[in-house]
Amino acid sequence: MGKREEQMHLGAFIYYSGHHHAGWRHPDSGVEQMFDVELYKKLAQTAEQGKFDMIFFADLLYVQQVEYAASGMLDPLTLLSALSMVTDRIGLTGTVSTTYNEPFNVARKFASLDFISGGRAGWNIVTSQLDIEAHNYGKPEHPEHGLRYQMASEFVDAVTTLWDTWEDGALVLDRENGRFADGSKVKPADFNGQFYATKGPLNVPRPPQGYPVLIQAGSSEPGQHFAAQYGEVIFTAQQSIQAAQHFYEEVNEKLEFSGRQKGSLKIMPGLSPIIGVTEEEAQQKYKELQDLIPPATAVMVLSGFLNYDLSGYPVDGPLPNDIPDPVAASNGMKSRVMLFMDMAYQEQLSILELGRKILSTRGHMQFVGTPEQLADLMEEWFEARACDGFNIMPPVLPGDLDDFVNLVIPVLQKRGLFREEYTGTTLREHLGLSRPEIGHFKQNQQASVEVN
Ligand SMILES: Cc1cc2nc3c(=O)[nH]c(=O)nc-3n(C[C@H](O)[C@H](O)[C@H](O)COP(=O)(O)O)c2cc1C
Repeated sequence: MGKREEQMHLGAFIYYSGHHHAGWRHPDSGVEQMFDVELYKKLAQTAEQGKFDMIFFADLLYVQQVEYAASGMLDPLTLLSALSMVTDRIGLTGTVSTTYNEPFNVARKFASLDFISGGRAGWNIVTSQLDIEAHNYGKPEHPEHGLRYQMASEFVDAVTTLWDTWEDGALVLDRENGRFADGSKVKPADFNGQFYATKGPLNVPRPPQGYPVLIQAGSSEPGQHFAAQYGEVIFTAQQSIQAAQHFYEEVNEKLEFSGRQKGSLKIMPGLSPIIGVTEEEAQQKYKELQDLIPPATAVMVLSGFLNYDLSGYPVDGPLPNDIPDPVAASNGMKSRVMLFMDMAYQEQLSILELGRKILSTRGHMQFVGTPEQLADLMEEWFEARACDGFNIMPPVLPGDLDDFVNLVIPVLQKRGLFREEYTGTTLREHLGLSRPEIGHFKQNQQASVEVN
């Protein structure tokens, strides 16, 4: 396998005032500005200065345990609209749940963001995770995992059908003859599915990118199928280069099976870097952060993850081996529960260590070391086709994003692994993705029937 011709893609994943559970307590965090747009303005501009493909905001539809953990987040789309005014090139991506929205709302909001930002919008399509999210929408419980993905597929069909209701060039804007639009180029959606229906047309014309970039986050079987059908970027949590290579191959096989072109789905695992001028300095910072996580919180979170109360067991002891199958019991993040169980047994972690590990990166890869070592790891993964890039998850914000941009990006650029300048203006151009034609997914579905 030769050296790759393309360069890697990078996302700046923003979460509270840092990804590490105790990151907000660190003296360098911007926690005082968590609900102040100035913090996010600085983060977006820093990421743009680093030539990141995109900035990404997660979204959770609940708050819980506000007392001891950083909690609450601004609505991603509102925030991204504000950030579009203080940035020029960087992609603006955010999570919106298919389980607790209507296709018409989502189609309209992302089309609007795409116009406002000049073609820089991207939608991280998630199905949400918990019953407490369902309760905020007047629903008794969160729908079952497989059903959620079925609903999500139909949801995306409805949204893309709405984006297709205006052909390019439908706006005529002929003042003289009083003709605003060519009515023959604006059609109803007439979408009638099992879960969603929408008449259309949308009340916003076709977005500049055709469709804002479609991102999928989740790695279970139904998640991978969903990504192979609709995703243009997939965010995933992978712990080792071997596991990531396996995932990369599996997803690419599914992509081909769905009749899609190789390279039309960018695979980006999360990577949380703790960087020091020396390895010792980085290790010291990691330890400092881990020690800030209260043991009781570690046990509580681990119990929640495994659906099993661990509070009666010694924190420094191993996981009991009679826990009922936690993967089967999980209706949330199945792939992540599996990953933690493997980690616990392979690394022989105590309950406290496993709980703190979950809280440090929530299952994403943790790196601790120097900028050169980090660039080595990223190069190795990229060249081994374990990924197409990374979603960078700074443990403490804003300081750790500054460090990544100032200390790591120049090394990647010097090695020819990452762009020195933006060459395009839209997120699709940064990612090397083509602009979808009208009826794009309908064509894909036809192709996949033929392949089958
Ligand atoms: C990088 C990344 C970001 C995610 N962001 C969100 C998010 O913002 N909101 C959310 O509810 N779930 C988020 N998820 C969780 C997934 O959408 C999904 O619920 C979870 O991975 C379970 O899916 P799976 O069982 O297919 O893996 C994220 C996952 C990853 C890997």
